[in-house]
Amino acid sequence: MAQAARRMLSAKAEQFTESVIREMTRLAMKHGAVNLSQGFPDFAAPAEIKEAARQAISDDINQYAITWGAKPLRDAIVEKFERTQGVRLDPEREVTICCGSTEAMMSTMLAIINPGDEIVVFEPFYENYGPDAILSGATPRFVKLSPPDWTFDEKELTAAFGPHTKAIILNTPNNPTGKVFTRGELEFIRNLCVRWNAYCITDEIYEHILYDGAEHISMARVDGMRDRTIVINGMSKTYSVTGWRVGWALAPPEPTAAIRKVHDFLTVGAAAPLQQAGALALKSPQSYYDKLAADYTVRRERLFKILTAAGFKVYKPLGAYYIMTDIAAFGFPDDVAFAKFLVEKVGVAVVPGSSFYNDARDGATQVRFTFCKKESTLAAAEARLSSLAEHIAHH
Ligand SMILES: Cc1ncc(COP(=O)(O)O)c(C=O)c1O
Repeated sequence: MAQAARRMLSAKAEQFTESVIREMTRLAMKHGAVNLSQGFPDFAAPAEIKEAARQAISDDINQYAITWGAKPLRDAIVEKFERTQGVRLDPEREVTICCGSTEAMMSTMLAIINPGDEIVVFEPFYENYGPDAILSGATPRFVKLSPPDWTFDEKELTAAFGPHTKAIILNTPNNPTGKVFTRGELEFIRNLCVRWNAYCITDEIYEHILYDGAEHISMARVDGMRDRTIVINGMSKTYSVTGWRVGWALAPPEPTAAIRKVHDFLTVGAAAPLQQAGALALKSPQSYYDKLAADYTVRRERLFKILTAAGFKVYKPLGAYYIMTDIAAFGFPDDVAFAKFLVEKVGVAVVPGSSFYNDARDGATQVRFTFCKKESTLAAAEARLSSLAEHIAHH
């Protein structure tokens, strides 16, 4: 075969683009825009947790931790999961600490997927699930969550399951919609998982960021799901340390054994001193989580008002720290054109809705804002968005 015809790059890697969300953060920096795109807090992480990390380094916890995770952190995760969800896991056989929940999700997919396997994914979805499916070789079957309350159609979900379904990917509280799945919805999903012998992989990274009395129910605690649920979670959002890259997968012993092998050869392990600090973080009293939710409630109200005043159609979230909006009324060709205009001319960075859909057209009238930002950042966004109508008039 001629040299020129040889494919020099992976066909899998060619199937997806760079992360749109992380690209928006780079654009925000380039244009000096207020960054309401990527979901990382711009306020300080809790002092005690930072001190615990410093202490761990001083104490020379600086070498590889056990590949599937330092025992103090695994024990703390198990204790907290039992306290909050009432499900007891075995820290020796059911927990794998990874480099962020991002790696936990990827290791899980690589550990359970075979050629021909399908996964059911609710749409709009957190953009990582697309490349996760491609890299692991799973065929995604998308099921729509529809505004304003982002419910799914039971017939559509039922039709998405079949003999090839290996797993459904759930994310509750949900990014980007703010939906919190109800017990009834979880039970409907449970029935399909049981009927088709499928796993539920549930990304619960926003478990403590809840509003208006919404309750987070882990699929692992739904009757009949203990042994077919893989919970993905991490420190990033709950303790405002997205850069630490500490996450985990909780799964029954068989999938855990496979996840641990994949994880070991992908990354060996997460940062040892930060795992040590994580053990302390996970022992935080309930008051810590109550305050986290209360503080985010204030920020949610603040951004909700800013966006409403600026003319966006706004979907109020019940969980997580994003607001999905509809921009149809502004008359732009699509979400990407609007997001580009917003970052360049108005000076606010957002995520185009299409990055959460398989077919870009489905997100063409939506953009996502995040409010995990300090008051001064939200105030700066308010000042800029207050001139949106004027900018649009001159556009
Ligand atoms: C739903 C969801 N899962 C996972 C992540 C990434 O988490 P981590 O920092 O633990 O890799 C994010 C970050 O935005 C997210 O929104």
